[in-house]
Amino acid sequence: MSKILPAAPIDHGEGDEPMSNPSLAPHFQDVLSARMNRRLVLKGSLGAAIAGLFGTALQGCGSSSSPTAGPAPTHPTLLGFQAIPVSADDTVHVPSGYSTQIIAEWGRSISNPGMLYDLPLTGIQQGDAIGSHHDGMHFFPIEGTDPYQGSSVDGLLVMNHEYVEPRYMHASAVGQALSRSAFPTYQDGDAVRRAADEVLTELNGHGCSVVRVQRQLNGTWAVVADGRNRRVTGLTPMEIAGPVRGTDFVKTKYSPNGTLTRGTLNNCAHGVTPWNTYLTCEENWAGYFRNRDNSADDQPREHRRYGVRAGVSRYGWELADADPTSNQEAYARFNAAPIGVDATEDYRNEPNAFGWVVEFDPFNPDSVPVKRTHLGRFAHEGIVFQPPFEGQPLVAYSGDDARNEYIYKFVSAQPYFRATAGGHLLDSGTLYVAKFNDDGSGEWLPLVWGQGLLQPQPINQGEEPDCNCFQSQADVLVNTRLAADRVGATPMDRPEWGAVDPATGQVYFTLTNNSSRGADDVDGPNPRANNRWGQIIRWQEANQDPAATRFEWDLFILAGPTDDSDFDGQPLNDDQIFNSPDGLWIDAESRLWIQTDISESVMNVGDYAQFGNNQMLACDPFNKELRRFLTGSLGQEITGVITTPDQTTMFINQQHPGATISPADFAAGELAGKGNWPLGGNHYGRSATVVITKDDGGMIGT
Ligand code: FEO
Ligand code: CA
Ligand code: CA
Repeated sequence: MSKILPAAPIDHGEGDEPMSNPSLAPHFQDVLSARMNRRLVLKGSLGAAIAGLFGTALQGCGSSSSPTAGPAPTHPTLLGFQAIPVSADDTVHVPSGYSTQIIAEWGRSISNPGMLYDLPLTGIQQGDAIGSHHDGMHFFPIEGTDPYQGSSVDGLLVMNHEYVEPRYMHASAVGQALSRSAFPTYQDGDAVRRAADEVLTELNGHGCSVVRVQRQLNGTWAVVADGRNRRVTGLTPMEIAGPVRGTDFVKTKYSPNGTLTRGTLNNCAHGVTPWNTYLTCEENWAGYFRNRDNSADDQPREHRRYGVRAGVSRYGWELADADPTSNQEAYARFNAAPIGVDATEDYRNEPNAFGWVVEFDPFNPDSVPVKRTHLGRFAHEGIVFQPPFEGQPLVAYSGDDARNEYIYKFVSAQPYFRATAGGHLLDSGTLYVAKFNDDGSGEWLPLVWGQGLLQPQPINQGEEPDCNCFQSQADVLVNTRLAADRVGATPMDRPEWGAVDPATGQVYFTLTNNSSRGADDVDGPNPRANNRWGQIIRWQEANQDPAATRFEWDLFILAGPTDDSDFDGQPLNDDQIFNSPDGLWIDAESRLWIQTDISESVMNVGDYAQFGNNQMLACDPFNKELRRFLTGSLGQEITGVITTPDQTTMFINQQHPGATISPADFAAGELAGKGNWPLGGNHYGRSATVVITKDDGGMIGT
């Protein structure tokens, strides 16, 4: 084998959110029915309906939007800080009276946390180091008994690593004009190859990190050595549970009986179960695979509807060289073409083992992660639970982040009891998908095989025999998007994170933007064509019953600039403007934290420049206050947010600092001031966790 470096890199030219739905177009034309224009939605009957619903449920929210009119708010204010301005600096800003500290950088050893590995990282080093592109995150108090109660100075910080930027990972990239999406290749005779150890580094850069963090005597925080420190990666063996386990859909050469798979990928947001385990959500996983050489036309529907590529996959892992020490088969599986005599001799079904929510116990480093298939297969952004009630079903929500995809709800078949709760609750139940009506009502449509339109045979006269029919519940779940298409779910403007107010059970979801929303496709919850700015939607389940099949909803905030935004009937002001809401969390006092992800392709460009770098805001939903709390450095997105139980320490993540560095500047090594947080100088940017404390020791946000 001859290696000739450098060779032409492969660059798919995409950012952090490769949209995975090229085959989407026709289906929602049949689904959208009544449409309202935006003015009617905001000012008309819907507004009245929402004032009636939420005015009683949320004290103060039904009051006039004018600060000088109507009844005085009855809820004490939740926000005590001065809003900060937008920023295009290569640093993190927080309000006066607050301080920040950086921990858990990409490349910090988990076995010896005092050491930060230099770049580049070998595959083995990356397997011992915190991964890249930090995303959803939770602080588990060290007692290990409750996800929100316990120590506020000692715990396990568990986080996702969404993806990687290969140019920052490899010695072979140095000096090449590489974009953030490009990866180095080499020519091996007639074949284009990837160096196997580079592939290992990238797979180990994905997944999750579990690290023990402690507040030190001087008040700072540190990652410390602990037997529970762990990396879950794109190679970690995992179980498949729920209705898809053992079915033909997931039989592979690695697992001929369809019960096992390897790894989790593109772990975006997360969830936390009431029984103190961590859920990691597989978002834009489809692009990591390829099937067929030139066209997706002859892929099976469970690949095509999700955007599995033809040609070369996102990182070209299937091109890894055949060094026998390189674990090459674990890389070759990203070629999902049918090359064996049947599914047990190749990896035609490997993409079906992705697109799930994955559960693991962070307190047991030997626990085998489990893919919970009853929660559906799609581009899971995250998952969020209603507060559980003894003897009642458990309820969780998850959004499918792609243009014109859906919001889902899972209701467990078995009731929740704290004493016996566990992952089995996620393996049987009903998965629903949301239909939003323009009158402010909504319905949860069950995705239950054999019910309604989810039948084995065509239903309507004239329907083709190859219609979207389903042969089992596993078929419905593997093809969740197609099932949702068929029952008439409402296509949304890219559902991202959700949050449930622990005080009211109201559910908030960010809808980040949607460049594919046509003028004829606007509707109540998605009221803007070519939606560049995004919105936050909110609903309340009927009778405040989490398991209800009906709900009422409103638009909580239309994000955007001062001349194209709305919050409680008023445009956003300079202390409030934001766009592309993504991360979302509600703290124990119902303070809503909103994080943004303006794509690096437009960040600080044109009329996006008025928003500066990505940011985080805090909102008091009772008094309708919204203030910018944090601005991040160049090129990054702000994502992941949690506090200690006493709310005096907050953790957030900066993901992909430096992603805006041009290929020319990268090749020239001209990085200073262009996105090299947190190390500065001529270092590459590294994702890392930012610890935020209030100088007077008070709760964050006050
Ligand atoms: Fe990975 Fe939809 O954000
Ligand atoms: Ca996200
Ligand atoms: Ca995002």
